[in-house]
Amino acid sequence: MSNFKSLPGFREFYPEDFVERRFLFQVWRQVARRFGFQEYDGPVLESLELFKAKSGDEIESQLFCFEDKGGREISLRPELTPTLARMVAARANALKRPIKWFSVGDNFRYERMQKGRLRCFTQLNADILGEAGPAAEIELLALLVQIFQGFGLGEDDFFIRLSDRNLWMLYLEAQGFAVQSAKILEIVDKWERMPEEAAKEKLESIVGDSAVQVWESLRAFLEVRTIAELSKAFQSVSVNSELDEALEARIRDWTELLGGLDAMGIGSYIEMDLSIVRGLAYYTGFVFEVFDRAKENRALAGGGRYNSLIQKMGGPEMPAVGFGLGDVVLADILRERGLMPRFVDTLDAYLVVGGEEERVAALSDANVLRQAGFSVDYSFKSQAFGKQFKAASASGARFALIYGSDELENGVVKIRNLSDRSEEEVPRAQLPLFLRDRLG
Ligand code: HAM
Repeated sequence: MSNFKSLPGFREFYPEDFVERRFLFQVWRQVARRFGFQEYDGPVLESLELFKAKSGDEIESQLFCFEDKGGREISLRPELTPTLARMVAARANALKRPIKWFSVGDNFRYERMQKGRLRCFTQLNADILGEAGPAAEIELLALLVQIFQGFGLGEDDFFIRLSDRNLWMLYLEAQGFAVQSAKILEIVDKWERMPEEAAKEKLESIVGDSAVQVWESLRAFLEVRTIAELSKAFQSVSVNSELDEALEARIRDWTELLGGLDAMGIGSYIEMDLSIVRGLAYYTGFVFEVFDRAKENRALAGGGRYNSLIQKMGGPEMPAVGFGLGDVVLADILRERGLMPRFVDTLDAYLVVGGEEERVAALSDANVLRQAGFSVDYSFKSQAFGKQFKAASASGARFALIYGSDELENGVVKIRNLSDRSEEEVPRAQLPLFLRDRLG
């Protein structure tokens, strides 16, 4: 064993692992294209400033950052959203809206190691920019659901917890805590994980004597599951007429969103759950996270609306919403449920070669067949036929092409179908035609 271990949280992908990886990316790309999204990418390394300013405290503490040889403060990207915002801001006037873009790439976070969380992971990002209304959320959530369905996961396997930072702001403002809202939402963000006593203490340090009352109002809000319950929750806090108008407008957005999700046929995947507020600093409206039904795993995906980030990147005012979906928890769940295909890379043909003279013909045919697009392999060494047939079977090849001296004298090759063992002779010049015909 070598002493040169890979770093904690960084994976190696042997060919059998890579097959799984390619499967994930294939489904991601296929479904994203079905929805009319275009693929893009940005740099893996960025200036540290980009993430310090945009991603928020939690991510800032997890940055893989260092000084480069030119004395620049730089960081591996922990996420793609700030880069996307900068790219769109730079060409905002030239880009046709709505912009529907997706990307598949690696991200780096110096996280505490735990199940489902690594230090290098791959994300699918899908974002819609230039659409302010819930039509964009409807499209993105439908994309999310179809991606998971594309892997064979259904209603019993996963669901989407849908929430709204906008509603939270209205709710806290109605109670006179607009200024403290960011800090209060930090408590909400950790609600499921933080011990009650610690949470209460923290709340007291933020709102003082009102802690008991605010605690109860947070609890009530967290129990809201329907629009009717939402209206009721607001009745117990003092809403002035200006707030009331904003609340009514927001309830109309929710009604439109939930109606659209029903129309898309994905209503049963959605749960209104205001405990989701998202740790990232830039979210401004609807936010959501995807979980497995049993909630045994960390989030499968997360996202939301960020309407001010493009402007902060020097662009025009441009509404935006998107999500990131990681490969780690998804792969865990597919493996747990036996949904990860166990296929291997197979070949079209394996050449079984008699002697040195036959090898000359075989190499020449291998070259022709590969140029014609077939996958072909053969043994580098001169070996007994039996050994070569074993290798042919192990390679998963559909056909063994046998180069014996008798056949070559007649200008033909004997072809054995490795699944049904049938054999036939084919003139060498017709090999590409034969394979095309049989392999479709
Ligand atoms: P995020 O919630 O930080 O959002 O990450 C999205 C997803 O990436 C998570 O739900 C999880 O699947 C995966 N992920 C995050 N950290 C790790 C990790 N350490 N190990 C394995 N998987 C991880 C964002 O990144 C936002 N930028 C998403 C977004 C796009 N919002 C708008 N557009």
